Amino acid sequence: MTPRTVRGEDALPSLAALRRRAAPIVMITAYDFPGGRIAELAGADVVLVGDSAANTVLGYATTREIGMEELLILTRAVRRAVRAIPVVGDLPFGSYEGSDELAVASARRFVEEAGCDAVKLEGAGEMLPRVRAIIAAGIPVVGHVGLLPQSVTSPDGYRARGREAEQALAIIADASALEEAGCAVVVVEAVPSEIGALIAERLTVPVIGIGAGSATDGQVLVYHDLLGYGEGRQAKFVRRYAAAHELFVDAVQRWAADVRSRGFPSSDEGYGIDPAALDEIMTSLKLPRPS
Ligand code: KIV
Repeated sequence: MTPRTVRGEDALPSLAALRRRAAPIVMITAYDFPGGRIAELAGADVVLVGDSAANTVLGYATTREIGMEELLILTRAVRRAVRAIPVVGDLPFGSYEGSDELAVASARRFVEEAGCDAVKLEGAGEMLPRVRAIIAAGIPVVGHVGLLPQSVTSPDGYRARGREAEQALAIIADASALEEAGCAVVVVEAVPSEIGALIAERLTVPVIGIGAGSATDGQVLVYHDLLGYGEGRQAKFVRRYAAAHELFVDAVQRWAADVRSRGFPSSDEGYGIDPAALDEIMTSLKLPRPS
């Protein structure tokens, strides 16, 4: 069997093909089985099990707090749901920075234990050897530049990056370095639209933006953000397509009211029993038969 190519455009071929046809790539995050099913049924091209699960699902203040085991459980659930499109696992903070060996071992767990098609990690510079090592181990890598949430230590650190020339040039150089290192895709987060466009123009692998303008090869949004499934302030780049939080609170409130008024459950929402069996039970318990 020919070994799978895990470098550059050939590593996630369905996404590279979309880029070649100039068809915008739809990436969405998912963190559980129903989320994975919804993503695939809705026609996403690729699912990212993001470490944003730290905030959206587990209630941590930053993504630095989610652990490997937590993320692997969520990733396995998504993989069970997503059958026909690639699933990308996000290497959590602390699982790859320390050494190439650590990075490869962590990436392998996402592939072998959770069935991922690729892993994502944040940053370039000192992370380039990690990217190369994971690719050399046969695992496609998605890079991530711009705002790097794993470097944010408090909720007020989620601000746009690359608004000054020096930082913008560094982000552009990082994106190119990730492509040279062999990344299959590069995610660009929270940079001016012009910088997103410059990066997409320079790279030959797909560039997927989140808060990086409309000129990138694709877009990614966090599932909970686009569904309005959660509370709190949203980033400027989020567009809400539903109000899931309000919808769900309303549904639970109506159910609670039905319980309190004994309107739930109805006789149709329970199980019946054969009268003879009930008779036998009542006789055995020495209780009168129900009239
Ligand atoms: O964890 C995540 O959801 C991400 C996206 C914001 C790209 O990294």
